[in-house]
Amino acid sequence: MDRNQRILILDFGGQYNQLIARRVREHHVYCEVHPCAMTLPEIRAFDPIGIIFTGGPHSVYGPGAPTADPALFSLGIPVLGICYGCQFMAHALGGSVEPAQSASAREYGKTPTFFDTDCALFEGLPEQSVTWMSHGDYIARLPEGFACTARSAACPSAAVADETRRFYGVQFHPEVNHTEQGRAILKNFLFDVCGARGDWTMEDFREKSVRSLREKIGNGRVLLALSGGVDSAVCAALLSEAVGTRLTCVFVDHGLMRKDEGDRIEAVFSGKDLHFVRVDARRRFLKKLSGVRKPEEKRKIIGAEFIRVFEEESASLGTMEFLAQGTIYPDVIESGGGKAAVIKSHHNVGGLPRDVRFREIVEPLRLLFKDEVRDLGRTLGLPEDLVTRQPFPGPGLAVRIIGNVTEKKLAMLREADAIFREEMAAFGQAGAASQYFAALTNLRSVGVMGDGRSYDLAIVLRAVRTEDFMTADWVRLPYELLDRASSRIVNEVPGVNRVLYDITSKPPATVELE
Ligand code: XMP
Repeated sequence: MDRNQRILILDFGGQYNQLIARRVREHHVYCEVHPCAMTLPEIRAFDPIGIIFTGGPHSVYGPGAPTADPALFSLGIPVLGICYGCQFMAHALGGSVEPAQSASAREYGKTPTFFDTDCALFEGLPEQSVTWMSHGDYIARLPEGFACTARSAACPSAAVADETRRFYGVQFHPEVNHTEQGRAILKNFLFDVCGARGDWTMEDFREKSVRSLREKIGNGRVLLALSGGVDSAVCAALLSEAVGTRLTCVFVDHGLMRKDEGDRIEAVFSGKDLHFVRVDARRRFLKKLSGVRKPEEKRKIIGAEFIRVFEEESASLGTMEFLAQGTIYPDVIESGGGKAAVIKSHHNVGGLPRDVRFREIVEPLRLLFKDEVRDLGRTLGLPEDLVTRQPFPGPGLAVRIIGNVTEKKLAMLREADAIFREEMAAFGQAGAASQYFAALTNLRSVGVMGDGRSYDLAIVLRAVRTEDFMTADWVRLPYELLDRASSRIVNEVPGVNRVLYDITSKPPATVELE
């Protein structure tokens, strides 16, 4: 298979390594993140057009300071060192790195920086702009052949370069948004220094993946658990293009989906060239959940029941050689360089069976970031609302109903949630939140409806904004929207007489209520 040009990102333990990879890919240049201990033969085999060293929490002289094989500097490949990566390069090439003596020389945060725009890295940039610094050490003596190419008030070596050998180092972080010219700097490195062509596109990826999936799968059969989430949906569309009806998608309808969702998934996928199986397991799940109030117990029951249903279905479908999974690149990076294809226990559809045997696992999206998966979905013709879907928890509405789950409560929640979504769209706020939904509390309170007293349940509306879902901020939605959603919900959903808006961030709250 003809290969894309590739950038190698060597990971020195920095917190922004994924972000660097995303920024490179945004410029349509393919890259991968690997541990800094990658060996020289491995680097040669990877055949990068450029190498980027990430930052990291260490000091180059500290115990256990991570290193890369210095022989890589003899490969003739351009290098960009970021923060610790810059210090490591200076140290490895004979310069010296020292701890900043005074607090003012240790830079943290937004820092005005002055650039030498004759340096290829900074060509076309304004001479001064803000960068994001986070370092306690600095380069005190440059290695031979190097010059300073940017400075800040506290640091004369905010950037260094040996342009003959095409080695560049920046003390700041070009990958974070706070560095105003960060994208332009990375672009200069990729295109002007490394000679990138920008050949990484989703059309191209689609073509190449289809070819390699066909080679790998041959006449075999593939099983995919379809949850309706973005990753499994895109995975299904790609595999269907590659192997058609030799792909079987099993969609376990546990009855805990949002309004009309199960039908929508069926409508999209039963029209595709694949074998689509919708298992109506609604009753089974409800029965198992009957009377269960504790959140963790609910999750466990749903996970276990999902596996049972999936096992029964796959047994009745006959032998399948391949199991497909929608693993994406952040999972691979987080699990330490993606060596083994392990089945995640916290899978979106509640974990997959251990004792269903397959010859091999296929993960066609394992090199893509979420935004690339969405792009690929568009390229494959999936509807926009499916491609831009917000995350939805595997245990579904069961963790959005506090306490026991009943059919009646599910129906109430589905209606309230649909109204909230409609109003978010009507007020043009759908893009303002990363995730938004309604949840049903077990709080009963007194109200007055018409001339009568009511003693009904309260709905909570939640909308959060987040980059990574580890922390999240509640969204300041317009009062008019909340007002409209609230009055529609109490009027249109019998059994609800109060609507609350959740104004807690994460932490201390979580996104979901259970
Ligand atoms: P929390 O509630 O932990 O949610 O702040 C963070 C993000 O994870 C989603 N979530 C889940 N996703 N299975 C999933 O696939 C689960 O069991 C699960 N629980 C929470 C949640 O919707 C949010 O996006």
